[in-house]
Amino acid sequence: MDMRILFLISYFVARLSLSFSASGELNSFESVPDLEKSMYTVVDGYPCVRLLNLSGEIGCSNPGHAKVAAPVVKFKNVNHLVESSAILVSVDEFESLCTRLSKDTNFASLVAGILVESGTPVGNNFKGFSPDKKFPEAEFAPYPSKNFEWNPSGSGIIWKAYNFPVFLLSENGTLALQEVAMKNEKSKNSYTSNVAEFGLVMQTTKSGTHDSESCLREETCLPLGGYSVWSALPPMNSSISQKPKPIILTVASMDSASFFRDKSLGADSPISGLIALLAAVDALSHLDDLHLLRKQLVFVVFTGEAWGFLGSRRFLLELDQHTDAVSGLDFSLIETVMEIGSVGKSFDQGVKRLFAHTTGAASTTNQTLDALKRAQDSLKTENVKISTASESNPGIPPSSLMMFLRKNPQSPGVVVEDFDTAFTNKFYHSHLDNLANISPSAVVAASSLIARSLYILASEKKGIDDSVLSAVAVNTSLVDELLGCLLDCEPGLSCDLVKHYISPSTACPSHYVGVVQGEPSSSPYLGYVGDISRFLWNFLADKTSIPSKNTSASCPKDCSGVGELCIRGESDGKGVCVVSSTRYVPAYSTRLKFESDTWKLLPLNSSDIIGAADPVWTESNWDTITLRVYTIQHSSYDRLILLLGIAVTVLAYLAIVITRSFIRKALKQD
Ligand SMILES: *[C@@H]1O[C@H](CO)[C@@H](O)[C@H](O)[C@H]1NC(C)=O
Ligand SMILES: *[C@@H]1O[C@H](CO)[C@@H](O)[C@H](O)[C@H]1NC(C)=O
Ligand SMILES: *[C@@H]1O[C@H](CO)[C@@H](O)[C@H](O)[C@H]1NC(C)=O
Ligand SMILES: *[C@@H]1O[C@H](CO)[C@@H](O)[C@H](O)[C@H]1NC(C)=O
Ligand SMILES: *[C@@H]1O[C@H](CO)[C@@H](O)[C@H](O)[C@H]1NC(C)=O
Ligand SMILES: *[C@@H]1O[C@H](CO)[C@@H](O)[C@H](O)[C@H]1NC(C)=O
Ligand SMILES: *[C@@H]1O[C@H](CO)[C@@H](O)[C@H](O)[C@H]1NC(C)=O
Repeated sequence: MDMRILFLISYFVARLSLSFSASGELNSFESVPDLEKSMYTVVDGYPCVRLLNLSGEIGCSNPGHAKVAAPVVKFKNVNHLVESSAILVSVDEFESLCTRLSKDTNFASLVAGILVESGTPVGNNFKGFSPDKKFPEAEFAPYPSKNFEWNPSGSGIIWKAYNFPVFLLSENGTLALQEVAMKNEKSKNSYTSNVAEFGLVMQTTKSGTHDSESCLREETCLPLGGYSVWSALPPMNSSISQKPKPIILTVASMDSASFFRDKSLGADSPISGLIALLAAVDALSHLDDLHLLRKQLVFVVFTGEAWGFLGSRRFLLELDQHTDAVSGLDFSLIETVMEIGSVGKSFDQGVKRLFAHTTGAASTTNQTLDALKRAQDSLKTENVKISTASESNPGIPPSSLMMFLRKNPQSPGVVVEDFDTAFTNKFYHSHLDNLANISPSAVVAASSLIARSLYILASEKKGIDDSVLSAVAVNTSLVDELLGCLLDCEPGLSCDLVKHYISPSTACPSHYVGVVQGEPSSSPYLGYVGDISRFLWNFLADKTSIPSKNTSASCPKDCSGVGELCIRGESDGKGVCVVSSTRYVPAYSTRLKFESDTWKLLPLNSSDIIGAADPVWTESNWDTITLRVYTIQHSSYDRLILLLGIAVTVLAYLAIVITRSFIRKALKQD
């Protein structure tokens, strides 16, 4: 009998050590980080973050301050959830998952997090993916038809609040998580399961701050915004003796939005328009007779347009107030506005079709349309065709020009777009609006069209010869280079063109607007100005510049001549002085004021319709956000181990007692 007990004990011990050595690749660990590394896999992903407005919150955040950990399951394979889970979902299923969340509260309560797979779905069933509304920023439209569907694929999921983390996975992350989900399915009845752990995800850091006004007061958030850039070609002469020329203002935007903060490329909307503008400036800058133009060309690139037209509204306010940021400009001098919207998808069976959406007094608009037509006729090889947009549209599509119309309903203007009555971009404001979504030749065609029509408008000459117009030629390789710099991670912002001007903080570009840091100013501390804004400032200043008279001057302290700037100061530490009218204009909500180091919400002016529509977006402060996968043992397994442990202890005790009495007996017998 004793022998049997001893045998049992050794059996359990052997089983235990066996199960430990089998349960992991616990080979030899020298330190705790070593151990951690083998247990946790860090997965790259792009988080959805929490934003606040005056009436509430949107986006994602952890329910509490703790980390969230839950097993991974595939959405395809779950009908109902039995436990709190992290759901792995492909992009084409993501919207139906969101719909289910809003309808099925039982299901929603068991969702611990969502992981969205990378990759663009293909196939005819995929109708598109746009998390924005069907009429983006309808509240700012200067016409009453707010139900018009400019964006038919829009689902509006970006504007809802989610009380769990949502990540977009990288390609590698997708592979890793798919494997994990598959393992979980196979091992449903075994003792281990793979768990995705979401690290601390952004949240409102203090309880009670659930809207922009209170979080700004408590300093737990910052307003969305950044710096717009404008530049005049040729530089404006500040000598008062000359009568100022009427201005032709060319507008584009530099920021986009997406469900996932740092994956907001916006290739078609709006970066294709921005690149067309930059290439047009470059083409025009090579002309010799710029000073003879009858009109002043001014280019402005706004930021924050995706979040309530922050850039254009602040620009117009600064014009009203005649601040330093817009010195030399005047609203009454603006004769017409030419906005370059989305122009990257005009390709349609060989002919690139663009549409002019017009506003304002017919005579000026007619001039602009005529110029566009004339430019089109001169561009035979580009095969580009511009038409006026359908009369049945309620007005112009969502664009900065809307803000000009809000200020003056008669403002003449044209928005050039690659669509007529509804976006051709099926991925508006989504992470799928990437380089693959646009065609470089479409951008070149739009750029050529804009450059030549600006020249026609500004020179005000009748019957310009084709030979004259052909001098306005867009550099195709510059467009290609800009596409690679602004819309790809390879080379991304570390491309030669960008590095020629600035030292970028990251290689992978993202066109999310960001938050305003420090005090907004027309000569901001450059550490607080985003990479894209700094690049645009330097690029535009360089292209529109005339050389400084003082060639011996060193940057920036000697750039003291009239209208002189120091460009490329960042990239080589020296820079050069040039004469240029290029400036930063802060972009942030017109309802906000920076006062004694904090942001204050201004009271609403009852006559200010736009201010009333302003949601005043802010972003909650946050630390780092991480996503890790690891394997856990189920609690039932832990209990089994505990029971075994207790059994071993009891048996060992018994064995000792028995052995002792046995020995005692044996000793007595001796
Ligand atoms: C502000 O956020 C709330 C969500 O809390 C949302 O319902 C509302 O539409 C937002 N306002 C605007 C103007 O987007
Ligand atoms: C993806 O994984 C492969 C192989 O594990 C690795 O070589 C590559 O660098 C990874 N890519 C990224 C972007 O992490
Ligand atoms: C500005 O105009 C004055 C007088 O017309 C001229 O002498 C000067 O060169 C101009 N400056 C620039 C930068 O064009
Ligand atoms: C605009 O131009 C068209 C033809 O190009 C002409 O028929 C029309 O009368 C013009 N309208 C105005 C208001 O000048
Ligand atoms: C066109 O752009 C490329 C790339 O930026 C540049 O290297 C080249 O010199 C430009 N060509 C002209 C004629 O400006
Ligand atoms: C040119 O720059 C030097 C300093 O490098 C300065 O002393 C001089 O006054 C400048 N000349 C003009 C005309 O601005
Ligand atoms: C309200 O706006 C109107 C027009 O923009 C302006 O004239 C007025 O001074 C503003 N009132 C206040 C109190 O700011």
